[in-house]
Amino acid sequence: MGITVKIRRCSGHTDDNFRFDTFEVPLTDNSNVLDVVNYIQNNLDPTLAFRYSCRAGMCGTCSMRVNGKNRWTCRSTVKSLRSKMLTIEPLPHYPIIKDLAVDMRPFFDRYRHVRSEFVSKHPTSKEFAKIQPNSKERRDIDPQIECITCGCCYGECNLVETNSGYLGPAAINRAFTLIADSRDSAGEERLDLLNSPQGAWGCHTQFNCTDVCPMGISPTRAIQKLKRKEVGHAFKKFFS
Ligand code: SF4
Ligand code: SF4
Ligand code: FES
Repeated sequence: MGITVKIRRCSGHTDDNFRFDTFEVPLTDNSNVLDVVNYIQNNLDPTLAFRYSCRAGMCGTCSMRVNGKNRWTCRSTVKSLRSKMLTIEPLPHYPIIKDLAVDMRPFFDRYRHVRSEFVSKHPTSKEFAKIQPNSKERRDIDPQIECITCGCCYGECNLVETNSGYLGPAAINRAFTLIADSRDSAGEERLDLLNSPQGAWGCHTQFNCTDVCPMGISPTRAIQKLKRKEVGHAFKKFFS
């Protein structure tokens, strides 16, 4: 059992001179896409560049575009793709370092920009803050919290291409989880920052990000909820 694999190759920071190389790769029943590129590097072409770390769906470093969709390759079995051929490309909307390895700085710069760190209201308190499991706050935050910063959503969002300052789905989703958290003290600062076309109002609600998130997160849902919070924040500021 084997499969034909086409890989987009590029040797510099621009992909103007890219080419596709084709390889024949043997498969086992459980081969995933990361196994396939590892096989090529180990046995057919040691110059093939790509990135991964945990191989267990935790680190978010193995993302690539496979058959036209951004995926975490260590958890994407070849069988599940139901195709006789694989086309593997680097994530779109990122500068390419080499072949399938992209520069993640645009993603993490935006992630940091929204103050993605928790800013405690009571940094010196020794008491644990308590948030009930069935509270609205908990129910709002829980579905959005498991992001592994794989960058798939940013690479799938068309707004990132057309609006160069757009902060992107993962950064805005992260900001939402902190704004909704009553223990955090930087919520108003983030609401001011995201009240712009580069923030919540830039999203066109196309759900591309939601469609590719391997953790089942819907950044679109977080952004819609954030828009409602922005309206409340604006009223509060107007009447204060
Ligand atoms: S829903 Fe918004 S953030 Fe998600 S891909 Fe579409 S425009 Fe981008
Ligand atoms: S929201 Fe989902 S797709 Fe986006 S970076 Fe986080 S885990 Fe990846
Ligand atoms: S290698 Fe860590 S998530 Fe795939």
